[in-house]
Amino acid sequence: MPEYTLRLQRFSPQTRPEPWWEEVTVELDRHHSVLDGILEAKERDGTIAIRYSCRAAICGSCGVRINGRPGLACHTQLGEAAQAASGGAIVIEPMGNMPVLKDLIVDMDTVHWRKVKQVRPWLVAAEPQPEREYIVPHETMVDVTQTMACIQCGACVSDCLSMEVDPLFVGPAALAKAYRFVSDPRDADDRGRLRDLAEDPHGLYDCTHCFNCVDACPKGVAPMNQIMRLRRIAGSDLEIDDANNGLRHEHGFVDNVRKNGLLHEGDLLTDSYGGKLKPRTVFVLFDSLPGILQALRRRKFSLHAALGHPHRDARRGHQRYFDRIEARPERVELNLYFSGYEDDPGSTPSVPTGEDSAAVASGPNPRKLRDRPGATS
Ligand code: FES
Repeated sequence: MPEYTLRLQRFSPQTRPEPWWEEVTVELDRHHSVLDGILEAKERDGTIAIRYSCRAAICGSCGVRINGRPGLACHTQLGEAAQAASGGAIVIEPMGNMPVLKDLIVDMDTVHWRKVKQVRPWLVAAEPQPEREYIVPHETMVDVTQTMACIQCGACVSDCLSMEVDPLFVGPAALAKAYRFVSDPRDADDRGRLRDLAEDPHGLYDCTHCFNCVDACPKGVAPMNQIMRLRRIAGSDLEIDDANNGLRHEHGFVDNVRKNGLLHEGDLLTDSYGGKLKPRTVFVLFDSLPGILQALRRRKFSLHAALGHPHRDARRGHQRYFDRIEARPERVELNLYFSGYEDDPGSTPSVPTGEDSAAVASGPNPRKLRDRPGATS
């Protein structure tokens, strides 16, 4: 039986104020999980604390960082974790962005669950309510299925860079939850939900597209994609113009690329505030001066690149892509989400057949039940 060394981060604030590291060696088959390894260590030292329940990647309790990446301890094999550690000790730490209570257990109530509650995680029924249950067309629920796969393990929260900088950011898990209700055809308050999230300075537009949450999610929920969908519905469909300048920044971004071929960061701020001569732009530029000077000092960009934009001429003719997309009568969004198992032929992306094993929604996002002609309720 192979041996694996687990390097565990321990923390017990009642007895020691600072965290410390401890190494334990366990003898287990390579297909056993990291959780099995931790529990084996716990047999010998009952003070090791970890939260778990199902041991089958369903309950989301056993989220930890393994070799620096968030994941489910019960869903990571010892063999693959050792390989990722290049044969050295498997490093196991508590998840990030949440206070540690003891050893590998973090306080999810004060961060994760508080933020989920913030997005009103329940359906707001349309009035008048039907006498019996809502009947919704199958294809309108496909889009919701992806976010429903979330098991609330907190892996995405653990690695969210925006939350690291701004702990008040609503965060990837809660925003994915918000999309679950915004896209549900039975929910009647998508506008209210999106307005709240867009107006919140720590809301919809606080995500910086770092993709960490997409990599971290063990269930393929891809929270960042859901955040981008929320933005598209808020901006393009519902035209919510927020006080945080999020919508205008997105438009400024598009105009900037249309104008320059490649993004020209030097103009982005002024483009986002409606041009160099707008009084608000002058104020924001003045306000951003310390940051700009610091970036110049650290050579993040040069004055020559900022003012001249050397790439400007490299992509002539790109405007035709914008023209073609903008000429479309309505926004086309292709949402693909496949569920099932790799060895199930019905669930492979190339053969999207079989109602239970694979699901595809395409074309304009199927919107609310009440917006659909002939919809039954
Ligand atoms: Fe339930 Fe790992 S113990 S997800």
